[in-house]
Amino acid sequence: MVVLVTGANGQLGQAIQSIVGNYPSIDFVFCSSSELNITDKSNCETVFEKYKPNFCINAAAYTAVDKAESEPEKAFSINVTGAQNIAEVCKIHDTILLHVSTDFVFDAKFVDGIAYYDRELRLPLKSEKGLTETDVPFPAGVYGLTKLQGEQAIESTWEKHFIVRTSWVYSQFANNFMKTMLRLASERDSLSVVADQIGTPTNAVDLAEALLKIITSSQNEPIEVYGIYNFSNEGQCSWYDFAAEIFRVNNVSINLQPIPTSAYPTPAKRPAYSVLDKSKIKKVFGIEIKNWEDSLKKF
Ligand SMILES: NC(=O)c1ccc[n+]([C@@H]2O[C@H](COP(=O)([O-])OP(=O)(O)OC[C@H]3O[C@@H](n4cnc5c(N)ncnc54)[C@H](OP(=O)(O)O)[C@@H]3O)[C@@H](O)[C@H]2O)c1
Repeated sequence: MVVLVTGANGQLGQAIQSIVGNYPSIDFVFCSSSELNITDKSNCETVFEKYKPNFCINAAAYTAVDKAESEPEKAFSINVTGAQNIAEVCKIHDTILLHVSTDFVFDAKFVDGIAYYDRELRLPLKSEKGLTETDVPFPAGVYGLTKLQGEQAIESTWEKHFIVRTSWVYSQFANNFMKTMLRLASERDSLSVVADQIGTPTNAVDLAEALLKIITSSQNEPIEVYGIYNFSNEGQCSWYDFAAEIFRVNNVSINLQPIPTSAYPTPAKRPAYSVLDKSKIKKVFGIEIKNWEDSLKKF
């Protein structure tokens, strides 16, 4: 079985590379952006023609949430045209596509202790465990919008797809919130972190294992299992809670202050609530998910 991974030098790409030893029966092909530029259709065709993958994990993405507000064309090109190109070549080669998407397709909000998934319509969540795959997306910024449009491009192009929405990904690889916190703590005595955005951290290696579990379970599954799935670690917290736990497990002493979003303006608006309900992925694929604190501690 051949599994081709795009965006191989990104955080998720590197996390997948770190666990290949657990899957000796899979031939992995890791393509960095210079080897496979997903915005270049003929480049995609050439690479797929060469490797003829059974599965493709599209870990390539434009992920600069704030920068996307000032360069929407670039975000669109990678997150929408790129996703479309990959879906088209997957269709030609009958390759099952695993595409990674984001909690930022939502802009849910807490009002009086109740989570609503749509700021304007104020529709309450169907699930108390978070946003489900059938809750209506409502992106707040360019990044979330392009990721949603990328999902839609895949859905309308190639039925053999899994779109895995995840959130707050961290690891030892590439840039992420955990590494930023540890770097800032080495430079400063105090730090203020937003405490009114609620979500769930996801260890990139746990995400990588979930994707491989989908692949190893999906070779002979009926078509009905394709579609959107949520995956993050279990539990929920604010960015402030996440930072506090990062410092606690790393024995970092720092004066950490909780602040509201209003005190930390950013070019892109972020969801106030983006906890994902993982019932579907657990039920369909039997995936056991670690609590975010346990996974961080283990990491
Ligand atoms: N990080 C998070 O907190 C988070 C949260 C929710 C969802 N996600 C989703 O998870 C997935 C993986 O994210 P990540 O954290 O691994 O992102 P990342 O570290 O930014 O990696 C993205 C990778 O995509 C590559 N890339 C960019 N443009 C490309 C192109 N045109 N063709 C091929 N590759 C290209 C980048 O390569 P270069 O470095 O060479 O440009 C980079 O290696 C993404 O779909 C993201 O939307 C991430």
